[in-house]
Amino acid sequence: MSEPRKILVTSALPYANGSLHLGHMLEYIQTDIWVRVQKHRGNQCMYVCADDAHGSAIMLRAEKEGVTPEQLITNMQAEHCVDFAEFLIDFDNFDTTNSEENRKLSSQIYLRLKDSGYIDQRLVTQYFDPEKNMFLADRLIKGTCPKCGGEDQYGDNCEKCGATYTPTELKDLKSAISGATPVLKDSQHFFFRLQDFQQMLQTWTRSGTLQDSVANKLSEWLDNGLQQWDISRDAPYFGFEIPGEPDKYFYVWLDAPIGYMASFKKLCDRIPELDFDTFWAKNATTELYHFIGKDIVNFHALFWPAILDGSGYRKPTGIVVHGYLTVNGQKMSKSRGTLIKARTYLNYLLPEYLRYYYASKLSGSVDDLDLNLEDFVQKVNSDLIGKVVNIASRCAGFIHKGNAGVLVAENSASELTEAFLAAALSIANAYETRDFASAMRQIMSLADRTNSWITDKAPWLLSKQEGKQAEIQVICATGVNLFRKLVIFLKPVLPLLAADAETFLNVAPLTWNDHATLLFNHQLNEFKPLMTRIDEVKVQAMIDASKEDLVVSQTCIGMAMPVSV
Ligand code: MSP
Ligand code: ZN
Repeated sequence: MSEPRKILVTSALPYANGSLHLGHMLEYIQTDIWVRVQKHRGNQCMYVCADDAHGSAIMLRAEKEGVTPEQLITNMQAEHCVDFAEFLIDFDNFDTTNSEENRKLSSQIYLRLKDSGYIDQRLVTQYFDPEKNMFLADRLIKGTCPKCGGEDQYGDNCEKCGATYTPTELKDLKSAISGATPVLKDSQHFFFRLQDFQQMLQTWTRSGTLQDSVANKLSEWLDNGLQQWDISRDAPYFGFEIPGEPDKYFYVWLDAPIGYMASFKKLCDRIPELDFDTFWAKNATTELYHFIGKDIVNFHALFWPAILDGSGYRKPTGIVVHGYLTVNGQKMSKSRGTLIKARTYLNYLLPEYLRYYYASKLSGSVDDLDLNLEDFVQKVNSDLIGKVVNIASRCAGFIHKGNAGVLVAENSASELTEAFLAAALSIANAYETRDFASAMRQIMSLADRTNSWITDKAPWLLSKQEGKQAEIQVICATGVNLFRKLVIFLKPVLPLLAADAETFLNVAPLTWNDHATLLFNHQLNEFKPLMTRIDEVKVQAMIDASKEDLVVSQTCIGMAMPVSV
């Protein structure tokens, strides 16, 4: 057998200034399934993440709520952790970027970059709010659109006519925070010389680290020549002060990805056998994957590898990019009730329904993915309850009634058993390449074949005849064994269903390789329904509740705040 792989996996760090919604969950579920597959198959795989806790959006929101930023991010982290746990997202460590480990690593990386000549300084002229005494990012400036005259538009684009511009083109400028008229002011900024990594990135982005469509998109940037990147923000700012530069802070996007490392560092501190350098040293042979959404590709596939390279660390093995979630074919919308919070979903529906639905749609591409709620109900009910669980419930009763719950030694359907064996490698491959949709299709096709076989054998008809008990037991033992294999294949997607099935089967936690074996002369436990159907009424109730969330959030948050200023 080959050596187990050593793999470190991350999902993007959710902002600590808002609740998780079903769009976020697409990413965490995708990553979690992939990590569980690795563990299931015997690889050493660690999954770390953290809340992205810095930036002026968080600072301003805390101020508005009358709490400190630290209180705000602590509360948010607690909320996120509960949501993740209920969606069965099994992080090995979930942290915050506002940690001492992250401060140390961020400073170390910055100083290494500086020592190597990758940091420049120059004066930048920017709008400043004289009342709040702070510089204003474009999104914190409002004014009248130069194109259509629409009032109260943000400093970077007009929501009325769609024009994009710089704040200097706006008329009647106002600070979105205080309403004061902004003034122009100079300030020293620090820049990372991204352009020095042009060559490296040109090669790296084409070395199998990215999906083709992502690499193509990045070529546009690369071909235009890379620009230096502004990595500093002036006080007041909630973040880490730049070493040796009082009142200058790291821009949140500098220390956020370093948060991946810091979260892993904490895990190493907890688990003595884990060694930080084995995963991050320049010559590391372990694997490193970042799962992200398509909106943050440039940060992960340009800035981040350059920062790592420039500071003497290894680069990622791969960046895995997914598309955006739409609901019923449209962008998630508060007024339609389709901007569904993780919590709202959990109040009405089981997490595994969504895990399965997302798995059935995730093909590893960057295309957007639609949660069609009618299809969701139909697919989950038909596949999970109608196909998979059905196999066990069709067989269990006969085994308990006719053989005291003991699986007999004999199995039939050798052709089907062979088909399962043959499919295993292809299903494993589909999981590995993140084509979960293909894995689910293959598994459901095996479930279909199993059901047809049982229908054909019709143990319920045999049970009405004399002397057929032995035959019935062989059929049902075979059915339960095939059910067990389906559970093994589905376990990364449906860990709770798998745990309940393990209880029914009276076996230790199943791992991937168990699919090649059979249970015989084996005592089963009582069969309890493993999953109930989705009730459409609950789906509607969830939508209605999401519309109500809107009313609540409008009254308590007020002004919409950009996330990464
Ligand atoms: N904090 C940054 C990431 C820093 S990583 C060093 C961030 N946070 S986020 O909360 O806005 O998004 C977290 C992840 O969720 C991102 O990968 C983002 O693409 C993903 N999604 C957010 N909304 C989404 C959808 N509607 N659909 C799919 N994924 C979405 O970005
Ligand atoms: Zn306009």
